[in-house]
Order: sequence, then C-alpha cells, then structure tokens
Amino acid sequence: MQQANAKKGSTRWSNRFAYILAATGAAVGLGNIWKFPYIMGENGGGAFVLVYLLCIVFIGVPVMMAEVAIGKQGRHTPGHSVSDVAKASGKPAWWGFVGWMGVISGYLILSFYVVIAGWALAYIFKAGAGQFGSGDPKAVANLFAGLTGNGWALLGWTSTVILATVLVIGKGVKAGLERAVSALMPLLFVILLILAGYAASEGDFGAAFHFMFDPDFSKLSINGVVVALGHSFFTLSLASGIMIMYGAYLPEGVSIAKSSLWIAFFDTLVALIAGLAIYPIVFANGLEPGAGPGLIFQTLPIAFGQMPGGRIVGTLFFIMLVFAAFTSALALIESSVAWLVEKRGFSRWGAAFAAGFGIWLLSLGTIASVAELPISQFAMPWGKSDFFTMLDYFTANIALPIGGLLIALFTGWVANKGLMAELIDAKAVFRLWHPVIKFLAPLAILLVFLQLTGIIQL
Ligand code: PFF
Ligand code: NA
Repeated sequence: MQQANAKKGSTRWSNRFAYILAATGAAVGLGNIWKFPYIMGENGGGAFVLVYLLCIVFIGVPVMMAEVAIGKQGRHTPGHSVSDVAKASGKPAWWGFVGWMGVISGYLILSFYVVIAGWALAYIFKAGAGQFGSGDPKAVANLFAGLTGNGWALLGWTSTVILATVLVIGKGVKAGLERAVSALMPLLFVILLILAGYAASEGDFGAAFHFMFDPDFSKLSINGVVVALGHSFFTLSLASGIMIMYGAYLPEGVSIAKSSLWIAFFDTLVALIAGLAIYPIVFANGLEPGAGPGLIFQTLPIAFGQMPGGRIVGTLFFIMLVFAAFTSALALIESSVAWLVEKRGFSRWGAAFAAGFGIWLLSLGTIASVAELPISQFAMPWGKSDFFTMLDYFTANIALPIGGLLIALFTGWVANKGLMAELIDAKAVFRLWHPVIKFLAPLAILLVFLQLTGIIQL
C-alpha cells in the first residue's frame, strides 16, 4: 500500500465516506455562511433562492458529475486529466486548457478567500473576549472598520490562515487533508444545529422563513440571476479544479451520481440552515438584510451583543465559519500543490510552501484594496476597494460560469460518449445526465449571459 501510494496518480481517499466528507468540506465554506446570506439579502430573498436551487439541481449537479468523471478517468491534476479524456476520445490534447482555467480561477479565488477567512478568525477572539459589548450598532461598526481598516492586522490574520493551510496540505492527501476534514466537518454540523436551534427559539423565525421562501419576482433582476448561477458554481466548488482533483482520488466502486447528489444536498442544507440561523436574528433586531459582505461581521454581532448567551453563541458561530472556510481553503490549494509535485518535481512540502507563498503575495492585492498598506497606491491605480470587488465579481460571476459552460460542452460534445457512459455508472442515470450536460446546461448558461450583455431580452 505504502509503495502504491508513492506511485504517481495512485493516491485515493480511504473510502466512499471519506470522499463524501472531503468533498462536502470543499463545498461547504464561506460561500454558504458568509456569501449566500448576503447575496440573498441583496437580491431580494425568495425569488433568488428559487433560481439558485434550480441552478444547483439542473446545472450544478450535472457539472459536478462531469468533473468527477474527468478526474476519475485522468487520475491527474485537472489540466492533465482533461487532456487525457480528450486524447482517449481521439481529440486534441489542448482541451486541457478547460482544466487549467479552473485551476487558475480557484487560485485567484483563494487569494481573497484567505483574507475573509482571516476576518472570521479574528472574530472568534473578538466574540470570545466580549468585544461586541452590549451590541451598540455604532460600536460594532467601529469594530469591523477597525479590523478591515488595519492593513497590518489583516496581513497577520491572513498569513495565519495561509500558514495553517500549508501545514495541513503539506502532510499529504490522506494524512493532512482527509484527517483534518474528518475532524472538522462533524464538529461543524454539530455547531450549525446548535445555532439553528438557538435562532429558531430566540429570533423572528417566521419573518426569516417568509423572506427566504416566499418568492417575489419583482425583486429579482437579471444580474440577480447571474449571481445565482455564479454562486451555484462557487458553492459547489465547480469550475475551480477542485472536483476534478478530488475525482482523481476517487476510490473504485463509488457511484459518481449518488455521491454528487449527497454533496450538493449537504451544501444546500448548510446554506439554507445558515440563512435560517442568521435572518431570524437580523429581522428580530430590525437589521438591514442588504448589508453586503459585512452582513455577518457588522450586523450579526449587534444581535450577539444583545441576546442572552450571545457571547458563547457568537464565538461558536465564528468557530464554525473558520472550520468551513479552512476545509475549503485546503481544497482550493490542493490542485496547485499536486501539480507542482506531479509536473515540476517538487516535494509535497516544497510544493505546499511554494503555492502558499504565491497565495500570500496575491492576497496582498485584496488586503491593500480594503485597508491601507504601503503598496496600496501601486496595487490600485483605479481606486481603493476596487481590486477585491473586481476579483470577486470576475471570478464568481464570469470565470466560474464560463468554466462550467466549457466543462459541459467538453463532456457533452467533445468527450467520447461511450467513455462518459462507462464513468457515469448506472445506465439510467447516464441517459438522464447526457442530454442535460449536452443541451440544457450549456443553453441555460448561455441564455443567462446573453441576457446580461443585453444581446437578447427574454
Ligand atoms: N465551495 C466553497 C464555498 O462555497 O465557500 C469554496 C469554493 C471553492 C469557492 C471553489 C469558490 C470556488 F470556486
Ligand atoms: Na459552498
């Protein structure tokens, strides 16, 4: 076994359960707990949630199956795996760029992901130390501004997150990644349930339920639809190299269809519960649902300061957020590390530190755009705070949907149909999956984009 693992392309998750846990750890992250609640708030609630759910089921799950299948066939890093599937289908190897695009998107996303994860880490200590006080909105706003305005503090928290990621990923897929995820994910689910129970008993659950599940389509813009589509990729870790890479470690005999459904189910469940844990508190305290990226850092602490037991609950909340972010950061860096080992002859530890150092350098762009660093005036010639906003918008709403479109087109039109049928286990599932990946998913993504650019109006 030891020997087999040393051979290239032979690393595998321990079993089906370990794979589902690792992939769920990759999926459940800041996207569910930080991003989903605030973009839902910005885009009007119920109608946005409905479109988001449709995107998950009809586009996200089929694309996830496609990516895992590619990884399982190639057993290499994403670019190489897509090339392999192309070659096995008698098509040119340059199709590998589809995998490469994902790895690059994932790397760019990680560069701001670690900064937000750093905010969450800092907030564990602020909550624990009782710094939300009695929940005075002004004091809480100052606390957030004090953190995000302090470039050196952000640099410290961000560097800590990156270092922790490097130290776990350097140990390898099984001894590092799989072990960390097996410990953190069960804890995350326990904390989430405690929080949801607390919110249901202490907050305005009815108002939150109405906000999230009563669709009002007059509140949904075409940009909101694009955000929902982009977020369905973001939240499921698609088009970012992750699911191709995790598929490369898939043990034999695991159903790609069933495991993908479980992963999407858990991810959606966590996002919805996070919404149902956060919005009752938001509404019970008369807070603003459209507060943007600061929602859980600026509005929730007001409530934590005012509610009974808020200090403990607040601390638990940010611990959960850090666990979720951390297991996703591990996933976001894995493809780059594996590539350095596979193609550039790095040791696992060397690759982990090299990839981590690159992320650290890139993260300076995001830090310098929210706070003042000595490089701020060079990094942001077009004005402060734009780099982060642009990077987030570009990666989530453009790079991920286009990456997903390319995966769908590649597996639907380029890859050999017989080969895909073999990979997507059950015959009945394949017959359902193939027309979706060939026609429905690409068409839906294209329609949304053409709408956005104003080329067509539905
Ligand atoms: N899926 C994780 C989240 O929702 O936070 C992490 C993530 C992976 C985000 C891949 C974006 C991405 F492209
Ligand atoms: Na997610």
